[in-house]
Amino acid sequence: MSSGPGVFISFEGPDGGGKSTQVRLLACALARLGYDCVCSFEPGGTPIGRRIREIVLDTKTCGMHGVTEFLLYAADRAQDVHEVIIPAIDEGKVVLADRFVDSSLAYQGHGLCMDIQSVRAVNEIATGGLRPDLTVLLDIDAALGVARARGRGKGRSSDSGDGNCGGDRIEIRMLEFHERVRAAYHEMAEREPARFRRIDVTEKSIEQVHQEVLAIVSRFLEKRGFGKVNSNAHS
Ligand SMILES: Nc1ncnc2c1ncn2[C@@H]1O[C@H](COP(=O)(O)OP(=O)(O)OP(=O)(O)O)[C@@H](O)[C@H]1O
Ligand SMILES: [Mg+2]
Repeated sequence: MSSGPGVFISFEGPDGGGKSTQVRLLACALARLGYDCVCSFEPGGTPIGRRIREIVLDTKTCGMHGVTEFLLYAADRAQDVHEVIIPAIDEGKVVLADRFVDSSLAYQGHGLCMDIQSVRAVNEIATGGLRPDLTVLLDIDAALGVARARGRGKGRSSDSGDGNCGGDRIEIRMLEFHERVRAAYHEMAEREPARFRRIDVTEKSIEQVHQEVLAIVSRFLEKRGFGKVNSNAHS
């Protein structure tokens, strides 16, 4: 659990499940409801992180060892935690994280078959032990998710934030890799039912998923007695 007065909510799931889309929509909806929100994403949520992102996702980056990849993700996360997430939690805000430690457990731990305890240990250092209060798992059929992620951004030229064309270095991995990632998320959600809320997004529209996410998060914030900064805000 986060220790400050704010609330820390992470979004997880296989590639292309709609995390970035839903974080954007939720942030707007919560702001309209009067909550003070901050979004973070990884890799690349800070200026230093953006330089790490370029290396880690570039398809021209050849021969990167799995351990190097894992440590780069951890370094990016450490910067994000200390520069963005913890200050926002300390200021009493709602922090929406587009991926967090569970991504390393799923992608590098299970996907690349790295030792899970080592993945956990390094992430303890990177995050100072920070854990999300709530994790929304956007669960999607692995093949469909990869197809959506690869299709995203077609016709766009930038790679700012999330845009890409035809798949980044992780997305273009074999389908079995992405199946392992999905299975790992299922396992995590079963092991920690109090923290995880799973939404099967495979056959749902963006708006349907948004309504489910908003219902889950609103209920959670109300149950926590979490206050709005602007009680006159409109829904
Ligand atoms: N429910 C949905 N139905 C149809 N298309 C969707 C849905 N949700 C998202 N998309 C589309 O799928 C693509 C991937 O969505 P998005 O980038 O939000 O996924 P993501 O989970 O952030 O992916 P990644 O893990 O690669 O960052 C986008 O083009 C988005 O518009
Ligand atoms: Mg994304």
